[in-house]
Amino acid sequence: MAATDTPVDELTEEQAGIELARLADALATANRAYHTDDAPVMSDAEFDALKRRNRAIEERFAHLKRSDSASDQVGAPVADGFGKVRHAVPMLSLANAFDAQDVHEFDASIRKFLGLSEADALSYTAEPKIDGLSLSLRYEDGVLVQAATRGDGEVGENVTANAMTITDVPKTLTGVSGVIEVRGEVYMSHTDFEALNARQEEAGQKTFANPRNAAAGSLRQLDAASTQARPLRFFAYAWGALDDPLADTQMGAITRLKNLGFSTNPLTALCASPDDLIAHHADIEHRRAALGYDIDGVVYKVDDLALQARLGFRATTPRWAVAHKFPAELAWTRLEAIDIQVGRTGALSPVARLTPVTVGGVVVSNATLHNEDYIEGRDNKGAPIRDGKDIRVGDWVQVYRAGDVIPKVADVDLSKRPADAHPYSFPHTCPECGSPALRDPGDAVRRCTGGLICPAQAVEKLKHFVGRSTFDIDGLGAKQVEMFYLDDQLAVKEPADIFTLAARDAGNLTKLANRDGWGDTSARNLFQAIEARRGIGLDRVLFALGIRHVGEVAAATLARHYSSWAALTTALDAAANEPAFLETEAKAQKAALPQSPAWADLLAIDGIGETLARALVTAFANGPERASIDRLAEQLTIEDVAPIAASGSPVAGKTVVFTGTLELMTRAEAKARAEALGAKVSGSVSAKTDLLVAGPGAGSKAKKAQDLGVETIDEASWLALIGDG
Ligand code: IVH
Repeated sequence: MAATDTPVDELTEEQAGIELARLADALATANRAYHTDDAPVMSDAEFDALKRRNRAIEERFAHLKRSDSASDQVGAPVADGFGKVRHAVPMLSLANAFDAQDVHEFDASIRKFLGLSEADALSYTAEPKIDGLSLSLRYEDGVLVQAATRGDGEVGENVTANAMTITDVPKTLTGVSGVIEVRGEVYMSHTDFEALNARQEEAGQKTFANPRNAAAGSLRQLDAASTQARPLRFFAYAWGALDDPLADTQMGAITRLKNLGFSTNPLTALCASPDDLIAHHADIEHRRAALGYDIDGVVYKVDDLALQARLGFRATTPRWAVAHKFPAELAWTRLEAIDIQVGRTGALSPVARLTPVTVGGVVVSNATLHNEDYIEGRDNKGAPIRDGKDIRVGDWVQVYRAGDVIPKVADVDLSKRPADAHPYSFPHTCPECGSPALRDPGDAVRRCTGGLICPAQAVEKLKHFVGRSTFDIDGLGAKQVEMFYLDDQLAVKEPADIFTLAARDAGNLTKLANRDGWGDTSARNLFQAIEARRGIGLDRVLFALGIRHVGEVAAATLARHYSSWAALTTALDAAANEPAFLETEAKAQKAALPQSPAWADLLAIDGIGETLARALVTAFANGPERASIDRLAEQLTIEDVAPIAASGSPVAGKTVVFTGTLELMTRAEAKARAEALGAKVSGSVSAKTDLLVAGPGAGSKAKKAQDLGVETIDEASWLALIGDG
């Protein structure tokens, strides 16, 4: 048997030496191929297996361990930037609560989802929300093998070498086998932050605005030695992939992490009610200034991990946790001017230009003024806000920030109003293209009617199109989009132009590579990055189009419903020509109209409301806008979207309707479970319904299902079908 295949505990010493040399070579080649050349020669799993074998041999023959052992090479030499790591379990963010009422609503929504009454016991953990950056640490058989930043939640950066320099991060764990991913927050203490800034200043280097930025900058140093020189700390509070559960409860898991050698936050408490949570929040807020590190709120989590599993996740946040933020930080300053920005859907947004002022450690010179009613001192229903005080240029205004949100103008001091200040008059034409700017009844926002002819709308649409959660083209960000839009030769006026850029550039007199700030490599890289995005999923394309109301979640829902670009466009074209749609548009009586299949089908999709549906159909029916969409589609290979988690589940791809009273779980939980198994959940029965789950009291839907011959089952059979009976 060749040494390569021999189980580690059967290797002779001689074979082990040969095998370690072979593994060192293979791992080095693979590392270079992956990190430096971006051209992997083996799968991640194969790579991991080789690394594990290498480590096992070294454990058995410690004296044979090589000086170039892959076990000591944390991370790999990367050509530029860091290697990428796809998280086995996505790293999510948290929904926010701002006051006691939000906390009670959080508790109520969880009880509702789980079908618990007020009287049922339900406990939560409460712990400080550390203002740093999250890090995921992967241990295999007790050895730290990888550390990754959150990145976009799906793919982060490999910062293993840097994480290795953090004292709070254990390099080995005793008594654990298999995979355990520990997650938590990297942060910098106030003392270390001040010392670092003092050193930076002395060395003539840039200083950091706050400890969070300093921690992020330090963790992302390309040279691990520089990270080591900047003391970072780490609190563990969560986990990703696990071979074995840590405990049955959140509190138990935190204790387990502590026993494994992690730092966990000493202010973590178990609370029995929302009032307890709020009291603990007040206590932590009280201690905030003396903690020595930044926190920006308190995180509440359902303690029982089985309940956490039942509650599951929304698109980007867990249902079982919430971040209760501290109140915003405030400052007074002068309003120097009001500028109007035009967004991608034509919304005119007033922006306050302020005399710079420090609010909670950050210098603020711009803040949002929301809309014209807000400036006039009215909310969107016409009721007075700020006691009806309007906001004028020259006024002293109160600015506030809460967490990462854009600063807002909250109040105005009338005693300091200059005598010559006059009410602000909100423009009724677009400041960018001169088209009329109108307000729909009931809409607080005034919008430019210029559509594609408005340069501001076009540029904002392009920025959205190339954004991180849409086409995410490397090297093509907001700055480049603005430059390409204005440049007569590059002329990127609409999304399709991005995909013809390389061909058009080849025919241009001045090539992109010869322009300021560009070179052969950067131009070639950009064209390659664009090329790499020609094949793209239907959900992303739909979201990228930037149609009003069509957000990321709605785009995914629509993509799952229609599956292909052809089916989507056919359905939208049909809907646009149906009397029911035309009548809704005209706001006429619908009652007497024939049922129109495409429009009704669109409205029946769970999560798609009439406003969204109308915006979508209208966008695809609008001549110039549709022509622009078609030009884009011609450039792309739009990939079909399969129903989620499709294979293996008996309900994958099926359209399910729930009706009547469910007795074993709430409607919300039933829907979330069905969707997680790849089913589409619809609100109404139609010929497309595959299955009706009817509880007691089912009425017209059960009747309709019967008429249409749709299979109908009760809740117990449903649970049996999904393997939970
Ligand atoms: S739990 C699935 N606990 O806050 C939820 N997050 O706004 C996992 N954070 O990305 C997060 N302190 O970086 C959790 N005690 C804490 C936290 C905490 C800080 C950060 C974390 C997360 C962000 C969400």
